[in-house]
Amino acid sequence: MTQDTAQLKDWRFSIDGEGIAWAIFDREGESANSLGRRPIEELLAIVERVEAEARAKNVRGLVIMSGKERTYIVGADIREFEDFTTEQQVIDSLKPVNAMLDRIERMPVPVVAAIHGVCVGGGLELILACHYRIATRDDSTRVGFPEVKLGIFPGFNGTARSIKQVGPMAAMQNMLTGSMIRANAAKAMGFLDQLVGSPGELKWAARKAVLQNRRSQPASKLKMLLTQWPARGLFAKKLRQETAKKAREDHYPAPFKLIDLFESHGGNLNAMKSAETTAFAPLMVSDTSRNLRRVFRLTELLKGQAPKGFKWKPSRVHVIGAGTMGADIAGVCVAAGMEVTLQDISTDQLEKGIRAQGKLFARKFKTKAQQDAAKARLIADPEGRGIARADVIIEAIVERLDVKQKLFSDLETKIKPGAVLATNTSSLKLSDISQPMRDPGRLIGLHFFSPVAQMPLVEVVRGDNTREDEVKKGASFVTAIDKFPLITKDVPGFLVNKVLTPYMFSAMERLEKGEPQEKIDEAARAFGMPMGPIELADNVGLDVCAHVAKILGQSSEGSKLERLVASGRLGKKTGEGFYVWKDGKPVKSEATYSKFELDKLGRELVEPMIAEARKTLDEGVVASADLVDAGMIFGTGFAPFRGGPLHYKASVTPTGDPAHRAAAE
Ligand SMILES: NC(=O)c1ccc[n+]([C@@H]2O[C@H](COP(=O)([O-])OP(=O)(O)OC[C@H]3O[C@@H](n4cnc5c(N)ncnc54)[C@H](O)[C@@H]3O)[C@@H](O)[C@H]2O)c1
Repeated sequence: MTQDTAQLKDWRFSIDGEGIAWAIFDREGESANSLGRRPIEELLAIVERVEAEARAKNVRGLVIMSGKERTYIVGADIREFEDFTTEQQVIDSLKPVNAMLDRIERMPVPVVAAIHGVCVGGGLELILACHYRIATRDDSTRVGFPEVKLGIFPGFNGTARSIKQVGPMAAMQNMLTGSMIRANAAKAMGFLDQLVGSPGELKWAARKAVLQNRRSQPASKLKMLLTQWPARGLFAKKLRQETAKKAREDHYPAPFKLIDLFESHGGNLNAMKSAETTAFAPLMVSDTSRNLRRVFRLTELLKGQAPKGFKWKPSRVHVIGAGTMGADIAGVCVAAGMEVTLQDISTDQLEKGIRAQGKLFARKFKTKAQQDAAKARLIADPEGRGIARADVIIEAIVERLDVKQKLFSDLETKIKPGAVLATNTSSLKLSDISQPMRDPGRLIGLHFFSPVAQMPLVEVVRGDNTREDEVKKGASFVTAIDKFPLITKDVPGFLVNKVLTPYMFSAMERLEKGEPQEKIDEAARAFGMPMGPIELADNVGLDVCAHVAKILGQSSEGSKLERLVASGRLGKKTGEGFYVWKDGKPVKSEATYSKFELDKLGRELVEPMIAEARKTLDEGVVASADLVDAGMIFGTGFAPFRGGPLHYKASVTPTGDPAHRAAAE
């Protein structure tokens, strides 16, 4: 049914005096544009209207823009993905969208995409169907195909169109990694045709492109050689090898299926378009994709731990302790744009800690000017002059109650009103640390994970006496440094270490009973953990593990762990622990184990973690089961494609089969 373009809700449509049609995407009631059912139906109405007006010679071209300030199109509307339960439903929903994109491509007048802000997934697929693409050079303008992160690949014919536009090399690499590409790089690759300096120039440039009937050039013949046999087969093989280094096909099938699609149909892009739909559908309804979509929703849930519309905006941070944690915490705050003073009793440590942040800044900032500005924002402050000016003060010094108590009683007299006082303690109780303070209600925990730059989660700990407003400020601060906050109760181990520890210790018990450590670690990886529990223990440091065991009431008496610690073999840092370490890697035996054995052991290994996760939920350490799962995924890397320990347990039978499938059989 054709809709009247005067009654659109998510788009604004007009034809100006020069005969240029303007379609402005501004999804009603949403802060960002996503291609849901209604916006797509309305876009079809626009396409039909422009086709008719072009035939009648009333329109010279169409420009597609965004009405949102910071985003163009963030992709398909993933909330609607949950409506699909069968492959046929997926296919039936894709066909009309792809037919519409073909009509855009065949439009007799030029169709120009004028882009400012993020344009990814379905958004990128839409602009690839247009004839010409202009974007702002702004840092917020990015294009990319993030679909693999949701267990799928492009489904609006973006696989074939991106290959046609930029060649198989750039197209496949971007679809396989899901990376976000800045405007300059996207133009160099061929995704974009023209760049302008600011959003204000976009309209004018788009108008000119329509009037001059500009058309984008597809990828050169040279680039397209890789679509020909035998080069295509060799390229596919190389892509498979590269991908296998990062993901296992049994856990993350989408990138491998994309390579198969390219290998079979990359020489005939029309055939690739229809094969894309057929290969896409099973991925979309798979448990892997469902769970990865769940992980995406969990990130939103974690961001929601910070209050909305909160007036308090931190910009100055003071960190005390420039050791393993403190220096990296300071670096991450600087990378997020804050000004940081860093204090330590050891000047050597202070210098070393600051120097170490150079790597992070080089990764985070492209230009030397930005890197220098970051370095200038990180200030060595041995005397603590920054304390009085800071919005947030984070303590990351030695883990001793008396030392921390003295520090906080002293800090309390120096800080400005409203500043947040936080400890990064991993084992001390907040109410003990704050006991000598005049105002114990202001102390919160900000528990970071190591390595700080890589770990996305920070536990915001509410002590028995902590005031709610301080917790809110803590969560706001965590989102301001681009991490996910998780509000937890002040129990030993908070959420993440409390749930992780029984898993690690039961793995060590198995080892004591004779199970080879290589088998244990391989089984955990086969289950989907980033690293096995024994290797993890060696990485964390066996002295730290023994300490954690103590505070969580786990006895390590008479254990191999205790013997190793007593003999100074503390893991990776001393060159030997459970494993001998060479060049930063554990030396492992060559023994191999059957998939059946590993799968079975993997399921058994996570049982203690699941049991503790349930207990933690019952004790109200965090507010919901979803938050338990989110904490374990983002705090430990618990197999994301399984959706978190509690979700995993609820969705499988004891043999590991999906529960819904087993019930249907
Ligand atoms: N290492 C981890 O993985 C980890 C993870 C989460 C939390 N934590 C917690 O973070 C805190 C720091 O741990 P770390 O591993 O970075 O320790 P660390 O030993 O590497 O660093 C501590 C630093 O604090 C300095 N220091 C000691 N007393 C001080 C004082 N009074 N004033 C100023 N500086 C002082 C030391 O010189 C040292 O540089 C501890 O509370 C620990 O429990 C550690």
